[in-house]
Amino acid sequence: ARYFALIPAAGVGARMAAGGPKQYLPLGGKPMLRHALDAFLGSALVAHTYVVVSPEDGQIDAVVPAHGVTVLRCGGATRMDSVLNALRALAGAMREGDWILVHDAARPGLTPALIEKLIAGVGADPVGGLLALPVVDTVKRVAPGGVATVARDGLWLAQTPQMFRYGLLSEALGAAPDANAITDDASAVEALGLAPKLVEGHPRNLKVTLPADVRIAEMYLAHGQ
Ligand code: CTP
Ligand code: MG
Repeated sequence: ARYFALIPAAGVGARMAAGGPKQYLPLGGKPMLRHALDAFLGSALVAHTYVVVSPEDGQIDAVVPAHGVTVLRCGGATRMDSVLNALRALAGAMREGDWILVHDAARPGLTPALIEKLIAGVGADPVGGLLALPVVDTVKRVAPGGVATVARDGLWLAQTPQMFRYGLLSEALGAAPDANAITDDASAVEALGLAPKLVEGHPRNLKVTLPADVRIAEMYLAHGQ
C-alpha cells in the first residue's frame, strides 16, 4: 500500500484571533505548520506530503522544506472544501486504493511514532480510521429544557491524522450535503454508513484552537512525550 499525507492549512484562525492564520504562529522555534510537516517527513512509511493552502496565502513558501512536500493552492471556504479540492487536484497522481492521511496543520504535536501507530492500528481495515482519545471529563448536554449528564462510556474525542483510501474519501466528502457540518473526514465516511476504526492517540496531539492552547503545545514540544 502507498501512504500519503495531506495537511489542510487554509484556515484563518478566527478563534485564535492572532492577527493572521495560526498555522504560521511561531511555536518552539518554527512555524506551527512546520511541526506537522516534519513529523510526516520523519516517517519512512509516508511516500509524500501535500499541504493545501488558500490561493491568497503569501507565507507558505517560507515554511515548506525544499524536498518532500508539495503545496496545493486550492483551499476552500471550509476544511471539508479544502480537503476535497486537494483530493480532486491529486486525481491524476493517486490510485483508488492509496491511503490518504489527513492531518490538521493546527496539531503540531504529531510524531512519527503516532503516525506509525495509526497506520499499524488501521492495518488493512476496509474502511480506515483515525487517532482519538477517550473522554475523561464528565459530559453535560445543555438544552432549553434543562441539563443532562451524558454517559461517558464509548465517547471519544477525534484527533487527526484520519486515514482513508483515496477513492472512499473522495466519494464520502463529495457526497456530504453540508460542508459546515463536516468538521473532520471520518464524519463524512460515517455518513455513508461505514465505521472507521479508532486508534488511541495522545494528549500531545491536541489541536491548537484558542490562545491558551499555544502554551500547552509548546510544553509538549519542549519536553517530548
Ligand atoms: N482549514 C482549512 N480550510 C478551511 C478551514 C480550516 O484547510 N477553510 C484547516 C485549518 O488550517 C486547520 C484545520 O483545517 O489546520 C482545522 O481547522 P481549525 O482548527 O478550525 O482552524 P481554523 O479554521 O483556521 O480556525 P477557526 O475555526 O478558529 O477559524
Ligand atoms: Mg475552523
